[in-house]
Amino acid sequence: MTVEDTKTHELRRDLINFASYNYLGLSYRPEVKEAIKEAAEIYGGGASGSPILSGNTALHTRLAEEVASFKQKEAALVFPTGYSANIGTISGLMRSGDLVVADQFAHASIVDGMVLSKATSRFFRHNRVDDLDRKLRGFEGKKLVVIEGVYSMDGDLPPLADIVEVCREHGARLMIDEAHSAFVFGENGRGVVEHFGFEDEVDIHLGTFSKSLGGQGGYIAGSSRLVNYLRGFSRSRFFSCALSPVVVAGLLKALELARNEPELRRRLWRNVEFMQNRLRNAGVPVGDSTSQVIPIMVRDDARIFQIGEEIFREGVFINPVKYPAVGKHKSRFRMSISAAHTEEELDKGAEIIIQVLERYGICQ
Ligand SMILES: Cc1ncc(COP(=O)(O)O)c(C=O)c1O
Repeated sequence: MTVEDTKTHELRRDLINFASYNYLGLSYRPEVKEAIKEAAEIYGGGASGSPILSGNTALHTRLAEEVASFKQKEAALVFPTGYSANIGTISGLMRSGDLVVADQFAHASIVDGMVLSKATSRFFRHNRVDDLDRKLRGFEGKKLVVIEGVYSMDGDLPPLADIVEVCREHGARLMIDEAHSAFVFGENGRGVVEHFGFEDEVDIHLGTFSKSLGGQGGYIAGSSRLVNYLRGFSRSRFFSCALSPVVVAGLLKALELARNEPELRRRLWRNVEFMQNRLRNAGVPVGDSTSQVIPIMVRDDARIFQIGEEIFREGVFINPVKYPAVGKHKSRFRMSISAAHTEEELDKGAEIIIQVLERYGICQ
């Protein structure tokens, strides 16, 4: 990729991109671009209306049906963004007097949904089922637990079997945000729920179209009762313009490719294994990541941007992340691997990062 250096205004060309959510490389596929062009010719630029008034086209209806069929659920509902899907779902379902418990590393859109719902909000320690159990104990009303499929700053997965069991014991509904895991995890790409074999035990399946499908938008999938209820009660969808039909056309094609080309997922996982091994063998601290999201734990809040600058100048585009996006002294580079990376790019990119980190004494 080419990036403008905002300090010098120079264009830096041919950078290796480790900062993109385009995990399957679908955003740039010629078939996707062609579908987008055709839709623009028919529909123009935007939906020009809320989904409940004039904004719903045949393409939108088809996308919701295709998502439900892909996820093997009764129904699905499409939102303008993943952020909007989280706030609309959580605040639509939960009320004052209810309880929502989320993992402490939950995305801001989950937290904002909790705040908007006016339900009692609690957070359990990251992936600690004993703490989740404690946070649910002694509460008699309606309870919702919210977790993620892949945690976006750490790349680790939830202990789903144990979480399902604790939710059952407490009569709590379980919602999973698969923003970073839908379409990539599981034999058929149905996410971490398929990977762990708990597709029917999770009540609400949420995801985004902005990552693995390389487009924009969000969805929830589940029972028809849930989806019909949220059709009327998710204000972030009800009172917001529907996704552009142009985007929807691209998503339909990207979903078709993700479904029909399992080799994309195989290539992604080969790339992830290559990079995880390359970094670990060089002593780069990558935390507990077992996914395509790999945190490079620098932990030096004062120097992370300086280190990032050197990596950038040597030919790699990767995002430094620092407090308050992560905790103090937990600064890191957030690396994303894609099926679209070649082995040569992965190798060269890893070499640059390792050399710079070694200069700063970060490798162990
Ligand atoms: C876990 C999680 N949920 C939701 C979102 C929001 O998705 P979108 O960017 O599609 O609004 C993100 C975005 O990074 C995310 O990481």
